[in-house]
Amino acid sequence: MAKPVPFVAGNWKMNGNLLANQQLLQQLQTADIGSKVEVAVCVPAIYCHSVKADLPAYIGLGAQNLAAFDNGAYTGEISAAMLQDCAVQYVIIGHSERRQLFNEGEQEILAKFKQAIAHGITPIVCVGESQQERDQQQTKARIQSQLADILAFAKSQKLSGKDLIIAYEPIWAIGTGVSASPHNAQQVHAFIRALAEQNIRDANALRIIYGGSVTAQNAAEIFLQKDINGGLIGGASLKAAPFISIIAAAWE
Ligand code: PGA
Repeated sequence: MAKPVPFVAGNWKMNGNLLANQQLLQQLQTADIGSKVEVAVCVPAIYCHSVKADLPAYIGLGAQNLAAFDNGAYTGEISAAMLQDCAVQYVIIGHSERRQLFNEGEQEILAKFKQAIAHGITPIVCVGESQQERDQQQTKARIQSQLADILAFAKSQKLSGKDLIIAYEPIWAIGTGVSASPHNAQQVHAFIRALAEQNIRDANALRIIYGGSVTAQNAAEIFLQKDINGGLIGGASLKAAPFISIIAAAWE
C-alpha cells in the first residue's frame, strides 16, 4: 500500500511576535516544496490573521488549541467557528503541554476533537507516554487509552483516515534534544495504525506523524519508517533553514 502524502507541521507554541513571524514566513517563501508534502504552521491564535496574510502558498494555517464548547459565556476561549472564520485548517488537540500544564483530560480532548470535526478543521491529535510510563513498559497501554474515546467517536461517525492526523509525541522527547529512535517510533506508529484499522475507514490514508526533538539531522531517518508520515516540529520550526530541511526530508 502506498504511503499517504507526508504531513509536516510546525508547532510554534508561545513564541514569535508580529515582526519575527513576518520575517520567518518571508524566509519560508523561498522554499521549493512542490506538492509532495503537505505543510502547516500552528501559530498562536492571536496571530492567525496576520500569519494568513504572509503565508507562502504551500503552507496551511493551523491553531494550537480550541474551545470544547460552541459559543457563549467562556471568557478567554476561542471557538472552532472563530478559527474557521480565520481560515484555520488544522488544530492541535491534546498536546502533552496542555494535558500536563492545563490539566486537559480525555473528555475535554474528545469535546475539542468533536468541535474541530464539526467545523471542518483537521484535528492533529497528540498522544505519547511519559518517561515513567516508558520505563514501566506502559507505552502502548497509555496510547491506547488516550485514543480510545477519539477512535470510538471516529468509528461512530464513520470517519476516514483523511479526516484526522495523529501525532505520536513521547513526552520525554519533547524539547529535550533526545528523540525516539526511528525503530522504536516505528513500532509505536504501527501499533497506532493497527488501532486505527479497527475503527476508521481507509486507515492507510491516516497520517501518523512523529514529534519530539526532530531536527534537520535526524528527520530523514525517522520519516523513512513505514508507518511514519511526517512530523510535528517544535523548536526546529522557529527557524527557516532547519524547518525547510525537515520538510525536504519528508519526501526524499
Ligand atoms: P520539539 O517539540 O520539536 O521542540 O521537541 C515538539 C512538540 O512539542 O510538538
